[in-house]
Amino acid sequence: MQDKQNAAAPIIAVTMSFAIGYAILRYHILGDVPWKDFPFLILNKGLSLGAFIILSFNFALGPAKKLGLPVSPAWLNARKALGMSGFLFILMHALISFMLFSPAVFGKFFEEDGTLTGVAGISMLAGILAFVVLWGLNLSFQTYLREDKAFIGFITSRKFLIWALLLGGIHVIFMGYSGWLNPAGWNGGLPPISLVAFVFFAIGYTLNLFGRE
Ligand code: HEM
Repeated sequence: MQDKQNAAAPIIAVTMSFAIGYAILRYHILGDVPWKDFPFLILNKGLSLGAFIILSFNFALGPAKKLGLPVSPAWLNARKALGMSGFLFILMHALISFMLFSPAVFGKFFEEDGTLTGVAGISMLAGILAFVVLWGLNLSFQTYLREDKAFIGFITSRKFLIWALLLGGIHVIFMGYSGWLNPAGWNGGLPPISLVAFVFFAIGYTLNLFGRE
């Protein structure tokens, strides 16, 4: 009975409430972003942070268990649902980001002549590659592909997962590092969302690196 328990719903509910709540606190309550920007700009930040944390759980729970940390069966059973939900939240993040992507909204990503800066280009390329890799990972759960042992073996291998995680990490590092080093400029005194995401990435990456066979 205990083996059938699945903690996906509470993990997703708590993580998304934390992430969206953090974005509201940082930008609307402690910052001065008008509430009219909540449905798209600020919700997008909460969605991307929540998805990032959920995907970090998905990648880290198995390796954490192997390293001897106390991970319950209900959390291990949640991994597939976490992977698929994280991917769907990232899909929403990508669609919203495509629509918002302009110098008026993201001045720091653009040069004065309206072209992308080099750093923003690397960050966005890594985001798109991470998205495609996550898509590939989700495809590997489709039964008709499961018969292709070589493809499944590669896509669920440690080497592939480490790269998938790394691309998400590069996306947030290149987008955020200049702001991370300037605490005086942090909105409402709270660490940037990209930095919070990076902390989860660093923990998930380390567990995956050492705990996966
Ligand atoms: C098609 C792919 C993607 C595009 C076009 C994209 C675009 C963007 C943009 C424009 C931002 C800045 C948002 C803001 O500051 O309001 C951003 C932030 C972010 N993205 Fe992505 N992204 C993509 C994929 C991903 C993936 C795959 C992940 C996670 C694995 C991810 C996680 C994040 C996180 C955590 C932030 C930080 C939000 C912040 O600091 O405000 N993104 N992305």
